[in-house]
Amino acid sequence: VRAARRHMSEKFVIKGGAPLQGSVTVSGAKNAAVAIIPAALLSRDICFIENLPLINDVIVLRDILTSMGAVVDMPTASSMKIDARGVTSWQAPYEQVRRMRASYYLLGVLLGCFGKAEVGMPGGCDIGLRPMDLHIKGFEALGATVERTSEGYYVQADPLVGGEVYFDSPSVGATINTMLAAVRAEGETTIVNAAKEPHIVDLANFLNTMGASIKGAGTDMIRITGVEQMHGCDYAIIPDQIETGTFMIMAAATGGDVTVKNAIPFHMEALSAKLMEAGSEVVEGEDFLRVIGNPSPKAVNIKTMPYPGFPTDLQQPMVAYLSRCQGASIITESIYESRYRYVDELLRMGANIRVADRVAVIEGVDKIYGASVNISDLRAGAALILAGLIAEGETHIHRLRHVDRGYQSIEKKLQDLGANIERVEDLDAPM
Ligand code: EPU
Repeated sequence: VRAARRHMSEKFVIKGGAPLQGSVTVSGAKNAAVAIIPAALLSRDICFIENLPLINDVIVLRDILTSMGAVVDMPTASSMKIDARGVTSWQAPYEQVRRMRASYYLLGVLLGCFGKAEVGMPGGCDIGLRPMDLHIKGFEALGATVERTSEGYYVQADPLVGGEVYFDSPSVGATINTMLAAVRAEGETTIVNAAKEPHIVDLANFLNTMGASIKGAGTDMIRITGVEQMHGCDYAIIPDQIETGTFMIMAAATGGDVTVKNAIPFHMEALSAKLMEAGSEVVEGEDFLRVIGNPSPKAVNIKTMPYPGFPTDLQQPMVAYLSRCQGASIITESIYESRYRYVDELLRMGANIRVADRVAVIEGVDKIYGASVNISDLRAGAALILAGLIAEGETHIHRLRHVDRGYQSIEKKLQDLGANIERVEDLDAPM
């Protein structure tokens, strides 16, 4: 746990050039964990959750639940026992909530538990506007009124009743928040044009194991029949799709040969297809993927899309990879309007990338070079680490707090694959 609370002033020093070799085990899914941990409050009982990633977002959630009256233990680094019997508050502590995006799931959870909730504005990665209108639409469909307060949102429903909601775009967060409240609403709720990401299915499986009645998760129509009570359960979270993909791209980019274990290959189809198009070999096993990089990879075009399309969370490491592929790649970011901030850092390393609005055009170069670069958000961190691994010379990567939010021991996993990466104190940390 201490390892996940690292000092902010640390940096990675990477000496590029080593092809990654060997095997790496993926941790549990961050974006499933951040929904499932608060969801444990929906039962007045004990939930035991396994295969959790040991990352800062999980530690922050543990602290939030504890300060709300839950008794939370971590018997191992990857498991958590949550006893929610002592939780009586429908308000979440503001200071902690603003440290992460997914704390807004407490709105759905507390609305389901108490018929009302007050939660501060969530924090999280700065990757463009991240409105809440669809979450609000979901709560309103359940008979709730939503008020914007000076610090966040106050939601209340008397009674909380099932309803139908149509999402204009399939928002992951709004689908999850609506599910979290609807499992305890009176009657049936239908979510139309729901998000289909693997962690939506994982959350639905967790809630069903607690006694909820959710059908259709993983399709674009989810039906939920509210129940009066939910009970405790034991549950293991799915492997992280984005961490799996990050290591796959790193294997391809370094011309390595890496087996990524504890993975679900089915979740990786969009990425596997693109890596093969660029010339890598991808072998799928039951619970692993092996990527054998091609020494002269080719450019590919990509458009990020909701699942099962190419995930926006892999756009950043993929662009770093394509910076050295032969030819011109065109990337269209269709989920977020400003998820290219890290490109400036890649330019400083010698990449040739032009960004106009949501499109990035990458002209592959023969070499990129080590530089001192700053991480702007979680997946930008993955992109810059990848760039350091393929750059000539030494790369210094600052602001590791973004990476520590979402990747468990990334430098240790990379060292085991033969990378030359060290975490050191950052004496020249940028402001
Ligand atoms: N949107 C709205 N209104 C809303 C909600 C979303 O217009 O009320 C828009 C957003 O502005 C965005 C799009 O819909 O353009 C997608 O947003 P979505 O709600 O699907 O994303 P999210 O729930 O905020 C989750 C992940 C993100 C991941 C996206 C897309 C968590 C905690 N976060 O965010 O993960 O990029 O889904 O897959 O699950 C990351 O892990 O690095 C990360 C940013």
